[in-house]
Amino acid sequence: MSDPIAYLNGTYLPLSEARISVLDRGFLFGDGVYEVIPAYGGTPFRLGQHLQRLENSLQAIRMEPPLDRNQWRIILQRLLHGNGDQAVYLQITRGTAPKRDHAFPASPQATVVAWATPIANTPPQPARAITHPDIRWQWCHIKAITLLANVLMRQQAVDEGCQEAILVRDDMVTEGAASNVFALIEGTLVTPAKGPHLLPGITRDLILELATANDIPYEERNLSAAELASASEIWLSSSTRELVPVVELDHQPVSDGEPGPLWQRMYDIFQHYKRSLATAR
Ligand code: PDD
Repeated sequence: MSDPIAYLNGTYLPLSEARISVLDRGFLFGDGVYEVIPAYGGTPFRLGQHLQRLENSLQAIRMEPPLDRNQWRIILQRLLHGNGDQAVYLQITRGTAPKRDHAFPASPQATVVAWATPIANTPPQPARAITHPDIRWQWCHIKAITLLANVLMRQQAVDEGCQEAILVRDDMVTEGAASNVFALIEGTLVTPAKGPHLLPGITRDLILELATANDIPYEERNLSAAELASASEIWLSSSTRELVPVVELDHQPVSDGEPGPLWQRMYDIFQHYKRSLATAR
């Protein structure tokens, strides 16, 4: 296993040597937020959007940004090594306090940690998914590090031989345990509208942008569990896995159990878009 360089509160060191206090509020309460930022050929992808979402998450948990955008850029540049595709994991917590108390410390000093890991640059493996009641809290638009519910639901999927859990709240699909969801319903691409019950995925937004540019009809609206079950295609989007076709839902094939033609088209459009950015550099 390689040992990437980590950034921790102003210093750079091997990740295996990075240490924080057990009094860190991230450790004690899950009191923090994070981002996962992909980088292709050493260049962060949609960085402005990721940093904007990070600032939104911080504001939602009443924290000041510990660093400005230029400082984030410098850190990312330093962490990205070589030209392979990578994802930077970046976490900010409300830091340590001398005493365990749920309420905020008087003058919090954020803990900031980040490092890069390689991501695959091969087409994704088709996925099997289960549906699962969305057992999370009400503020899922915040990219909070408090992921226990997501962990349990993803593990349920894995226990059933699947790769992702698609979450259903009040009979409506919200998102995946770590992805956004798209379904092809009677020729229209449907994805749940943004709101407090799902993370505003950066990849999700890009897919919709690419759909507009390529005259692919789509709707952001409620998507019922019944509609999902009868969809002709289902996709999952995320920064680390881009766009994954779901070929089995709740142990039943989606259409003929193969990645669908619109997924293939959007996947090609996505790859073309990435390459066009690389040549524009
Ligand atoms: N997760 N919804 C949830 C709950 C997620 O955790 C993620 C991504 C997404 C997709 O968002 P984006 O396209 O901006 O990556 C949606 C990251 C990759 C993770 O936790 O590792």
